[in-house]
Amino acid sequence: MNPLDRQFILSSLPGVLLPWYAAHHRILPWRETTDPYRIWLSEIMLQQTRVEAVKGYYQRFLDALPAIQDLACCPDDTLMKLWEGLGYYSRARNLKKAAQIILEEYGGVFPRDYGSVLALPGIGEYTAGAVCSIAFDLPTPAVDGNVLRLVSRLTDDPSPIDAPQTKAAVRQALSTVYPRNAGDFTQALMELGATLCGPNQKPDCPACPCAHLCLGKLRGTAEALPVKSPKRQKRQEDKTVFIFSCDGRYALEKRPEEGLLAGLWQFPNVPGHLSTQQCLEQAQALGLRPRELRREVSRKHIFTHIVWDMKGIFMEVSECSGDFLWFTKEQINDQAALPTAFRLFWEDVHHV
Ligand code: ADE
Repeated sequence: MNPLDRQFILSSLPGVLLPWYAAHHRILPWRETTDPYRIWLSEIMLQQTRVEAVKGYYQRFLDALPAIQDLACCPDDTLMKLWEGLGYYSRARNLKKAAQIILEEYGGVFPRDYGSVLALPGIGEYTAGAVCSIAFDLPTPAVDGNVLRLVSRLTDDPSPIDAPQTKAAVRQALSTVYPRNAGDFTQALMELGATLCGPNQKPDCPACPCAHLCLGKLRGTAEALPVKSPKRQKRQEDKTVFIFSCDGRYALEKRPEEGLLAGLWQFPNVPGHLSTQQCLEQAQALGLRPRELRREVSRKHIFTHIVWDMKGIFMEVSECSGDFLWFTKEQINDQAALPTAFRLFWEDVHHV
């Protein structure tokens, strides 16, 4: 086979990557198990969140919900609290829905075939591939951004990695070269793509076990890869967020059951950046009696498609009135799932 051929490069990977992975992989809690529930949970958490941040959440989640049955029966408020700060809360809701299906349709045993796993809520081709390969050693690639970057560099492929066809082609090509220990191969691809060939850094070719195979290195294109389609601008939304306090209690309300951050708690807020006078009027319109305007801060929170540009208003009011629930600091810390966009202001409460 021609060594410049994509298939030659990919088919050489197991022989090179498996020994490298065995010697160099990071010790991570979800690598100590082949329990599909644990692998599934880790992959869902890791999709949008850094490894270091996931470690603590993963352990706490499993301490609270050690088995699929526990997840299926977990009250929504408890689940949201366990997920608080991780973002993309629909991931947690889908985990629970899938756990209920596993309980009802599979007698509580995680299904072992790719099609059934893929059919569960919140599980796409990446997650199905990761769980089936890591937990069951099936030859099902898990192609995420790390693997796409790695393969595009190895094969000097300028196809935009955000195009679904690119991902499908990489998945198809990798599936033909899977070795028997599929789980280690999946993890080795991810590991190399996350570390030596990681994002936002120069590839560490001198340390890379694949350097001798890498077309991107040979041709000097590796650093310019992968290619991505031009990004769409994020929509900016201005908001005024009220941190109303009254004798050590704080006003919270639930967000609507549909849409962004559905069903989580929030500080009351309105669109736009209000003037001080408008803030006082708004408080009155919400059935509150302002006593003191203590502080104003600006905070930004970036979601996938939207940026919230928020003006936070810390206001003491005379009584716990209005259509709110009034929580103590302890209740906000221990019970209410307050998403990061609003928790940004919680840090400031201690300085008011
Ligand atoms: N990112 C996604 N899946 C991962 C895994 N299993 N280990 C480390 N990083 C990951």
